[in-house]
Amino acid sequence: MEVTVTTPTIDIGLSKDSREGTIKILRVLLADEYILYTKTKNYHWNVTGSDFNELHEFFGKQYEELDDIVDEIAERIRQLGGYATGTLTEFISTARIKEEPSKYPDARGMLSNLLSDHEHIIRSIRVDADMVADEYHDMGTNDFLIGIMQKHEKMAWMLRAYLE
Ligand SMILES: [Fe+2]
Repeated sequence: MEVTVTTPTIDIGLSKDSREGTIKILRVLLADEYILYTKTKNYHWNVTGSDFNELHEFFGKQYEELDDIVDEIAERIRQLGGYATGTLTEFISTARIKEEPSKYPDARGMLSNLLSDHEHIIRSIRVDADMVADEYHDMGTNDFLIGIMQKHEKMAWMLRAYLE
């Protein structure tokens, strides 16, 4: 995917190569977040069972939080001088998280799928955060990623609590 930054003269102490490397990482994460946002919304709509109301509300809160995360990552990419990818085509082709079209798991299956995706993202961010610090010396994005990771750790805890 084309990563060339849109503002090559931006002067914040990071080389163009560093910013491009970081933008590439953020774009993959943005795609993951968008897929997980969509999956959470799907489950908000389609959850069934005796805990319907509770889980309908809970999934609703989680997709709102994911929507905020999506926005923060896109705007972080812009701060580094890149275009924020904003098409479903790019999200699907880039994401590490997979969708499950036409599948409507029971409530427990939904909780477990979301937990697994959050944990996948948390593990990915750990690697990404090391990479932006060690390879690209972008401590701002390192701190930013750690903050996003902590939000996922909290969401994962809540999902896990339903399953225990
Ligand atoms: Fe709704």
